[in-house]
Amino acid sequence: MNDETKKKINARYERELNKGERFWPDSIFKDLIVSLGIFVLLVLLATFIGVSPEPKADPSDTSYIPRPEWYFLFIFKFLAIYGQIPVLGKIEWIATVLIPGIAVGILTLVPFIEKRPDRHYGKRILPISIMIIMVVGAVLLTMTSEVPTVSADGSKFLGYLQSISGLIIPTVAMTALILMSFVFKGTSTRTMIWTTVLASVSMILVSGVVLALHPRSVVEETEVATTLVDQITAGQDLYSIHCTECHGDDGSVAVIEGVEGLEGEEITPINSKDVLYTITDSAMYEVIAYGRPNAGMTPFGKAYGGELSKSEIDYMTIFMRYMWDDRFEAPEIKPLFPALADGEVPSYDVHIQPVAKRYCVSCHRAGKENNNYLMTSYEEILTTGDNAEKNIIKGDESSYLLQVIQEHAIMDPENPEEELIGVMPPSKALKPDVVDVFVRWIMNGMPQTAEEAAALFVLPTPEATAAP
Ligand code: HEC
Ligand code: HEC
Repeated sequence: MNDETKKKINARYERELNKGERFWPDSIFKDLIVSLGIFVLLVLLATFIGVSPEPKADPSDTSYIPRPEWYFLFIFKFLAIYGQIPVLGKIEWIATVLIPGIAVGILTLVPFIEKRPDRHYGKRILPISIMIIMVVGAVLLTMTSEVPTVSADGSKFLGYLQSISGLIIPTVAMTALILMSFVFKGTSTRTMIWTTVLASVSMILVSGVVLALHPRSVVEETEVATTLVDQITAGQDLYSIHCTECHGDDGSVAVIEGVEGLEGEEITPINSKDVLYTITDSAMYEVIAYGRPNAGMTPFGKAYGGELSKSEIDYMTIFMRYMWDDRFEAPEIKPLFPALADGEVPSYDVHIQPVAKRYCVSCHRAGKENNNYLMTSYEEILTTGDNAEKNIIKGDESSYLLQVIQEHAIMDPENPEEELIGVMPPSKALKPDVVDVFVRWIMNGMPQTAEEAAALFVLPTPEATAAP
């Protein structure tokens, strides 16, 4: 600091002193007003927005997966990334105690180490740069905390990218900055600023790639359902996708079939009085949210790593009560598809899509065991599958799909003792009217829209109507 600036500062200090601003009561008064404002804001937030309560803590539950509050997520993520380092990663206290300890220690000691009188930011590049890298790192770690370090398919690629942006780049950048300040004192501030900018930008880019590559959940969030019928319908749709594979479309499955790892597993049918009369609504919420991890049912609640929100789980409970529990009276629910007249041809849009969603998509979607046969869109139903050419053949009764839904397994041509494809759905046969929809659709050329189907309508012949 030269004499010129020193004089200026002193003059300003004198002026302020003469004007007279006292700590008590002047400054304290300002503080009070701001704190009061924040207090009122908190009360308003709590009254009008609030936090959605989690289910009550259950001390006997061993499947609980704790997750920290959002403001600790970055440390949580840091620990996960740190755990990937060979050898050192096993020594947990380095990441949980030593590194945070050093960081807090440095922050506490900064005023004692950095005693330079300058306040201008141009003179404080090192602390500002380190702070920028730390803050950018913490924000990015929080944002990527949902992304696992090992993906569902066992790939560690995203994990490696995360350690590059969360560990390697910041460590290298901070080491470089410290060396520039204390060892290579000739380094220009410009080089230091560029180092900081480059490090921050590359951290943001790598984390962006991680977020972009992280597969989003395929199931869209259900809209808020207000009427009972809407809630039951929403619950039924969610149930069809998430639960049918193990419990069947109506909860009646007693032996799981066609599910990897649970083949032949005996379970209590969840539409039985045994289950519905003994499990209260809140216990039902907990069963679905935590799952039964020891028995093979994964958690579905968002708080436990699943993909369903509180209201989505509530809708499923409402659906099960009204449709299966005889103590509740079911309201009138729209049928799954409009009944077919004689000679009428079903379309994908009106008939097959809802049927596939109700009875097949739970297993026939990405990430499940299904011979790569996906059924979530018109194109997928017609073109995917290990046996794509044989599954659906226009006008052919021997199409694999038609065979398996009519309880005829397809035997392996190379090994006639082995089933190539079992009956579908594996643990429970379809009702005749649903089978009829698939048969008519494939025999008449798989129309997609209602108009295309209407054009194929075959008027009943006089003999057919005159039949006894
Ligand atoms: C991967 C297979 C699987 C999926 C998917 C699945 N469950 Fe389960 N579920 C099980 C198994 C296994 C059990 C343990 C059954 C037992 O012990 O009788 C179980 C138990 C239950 C129970 C408790 C039965 C009891 O006797 O306590 C309920 C209720 C239940 N599931 C509902 C659901 C709902 C609702 C869904 C969809 C959100 C669902 N499950 C998805 C496999 C599954
Ligand atoms: C419980 C899970 C489950 C449900 C529900 C289910 N499938 Fe499957 N599906 C499988 C599995 C597993 C395979 C692989 C073959 C096997 O294991 O038999 C398969 C294979 C198939 C194949 C042969 C695909 C190919 O290219 O080899 C067809 C066709 C099929 N399913 C149709 C259906 C239809 C139609 C429905 C609904 C009415 C349905 N599945 C419901 C589990 C299921």
